[in-house]
Amino acid sequence: MSEKNHTASVKTADANLQSLPTHIAVIMDGNGRWAKHHGLPRIAGHRRGLESVRTMVKACADYEIPYLTLFAFSSENWKRPPAEVGLLMDLFANALEQKARRLHENNVCLRIVGDTTRFSSKIRMLIQRAETLTRENNGLRLTIAANYGGRWDVTQACKQIIQEVAAGRMAAEDADENSIARRLATAYLPEPDLFIRTGGEQRVSNFLLWQLAYTELYFTDTLWPAFDRTEFEQALASFSERERRFGKTGDQIVKQHRIRNA
Ligand code: IPE
Ligand code: IPE
Ligand code: MG
Repeated sequence: MSEKNHTASVKTADANLQSLPTHIAVIMDGNGRWAKHHGLPRIAGHRRGLESVRTMVKACADYEIPYLTLFAFSSENWKRPPAEVGLLMDLFANALEQKARRLHENNVCLRIVGDTTRFSSKIRMLIQRAETLTRENNGLRLTIAANYGGRWDVTQACKQIIQEVAAGRMAAEDADENSIARRLATAYLPEPDLFIRTGGEQRVSNFLLWQLAYTELYFTDTLWPAFDRTEFEQALASFSERERRFGKTGDQIVKQHRIRNA
């Protein structure tokens, strides 16, 4: 995790941002309620939510934010009515099939994190195809968390360590925070600087439990399908005003700033 925010001076409609996040992680919540408010079936909200994904990807690319991670389906979402789960799987498959080329054309590198073994063979094939197609791209690093759970992630990392110790490839006393961090599904990403949750709930819902240790949290009542570029810029403006101390005092941070800018 870097203490230094990705700095850039970006002009927005109402803010001159001095500090931008390097990695943004989002819980895209509120699709169902959005649909209900519009007298539509829940799946219409999920479909509309895909439009917001497009807006967000474009905005991150425009602001040159290197990493975006979106929570699309949690390990707990299987508990929903089977019909909704089925429709969500269909939507996921269609999105992978239809959007991969567009992402590729926009130089986006796509990765899916989560326990993909529970998905159908078709979805697993589409994931592999989309990841392979976009692997070499050096634009936005877009990660979709699907059948992801923070507890699953830490558990699978610990399991790997246990197996390596049992096989004699690692000494038990060498296990430390880094050994876990290196084995998380998101090990190729820096820890998120900004976490956004739409939809009014102020909870983490088993998203990136380990990785969010020092992330700035931003909650908005706006439902995900209504989360537009202006809303995104408001989140960036809020982030830009935060003082990230990482356990230090405010005075230490001010001093660091002065030295860096001298
Ligand atoms: C988020 O929207 C999408 C998923 C969890 C798949 P919801 O479906 O949770 O929408 P609400 O919270 O019921 O409004
Ligand atoms: C979190 O939203 C998961 C995703 C957005 C994918 P939920 O709507 O499932 O969260 P809870 O159940 O309200 O905590
Ligand atoms: Mg929800």
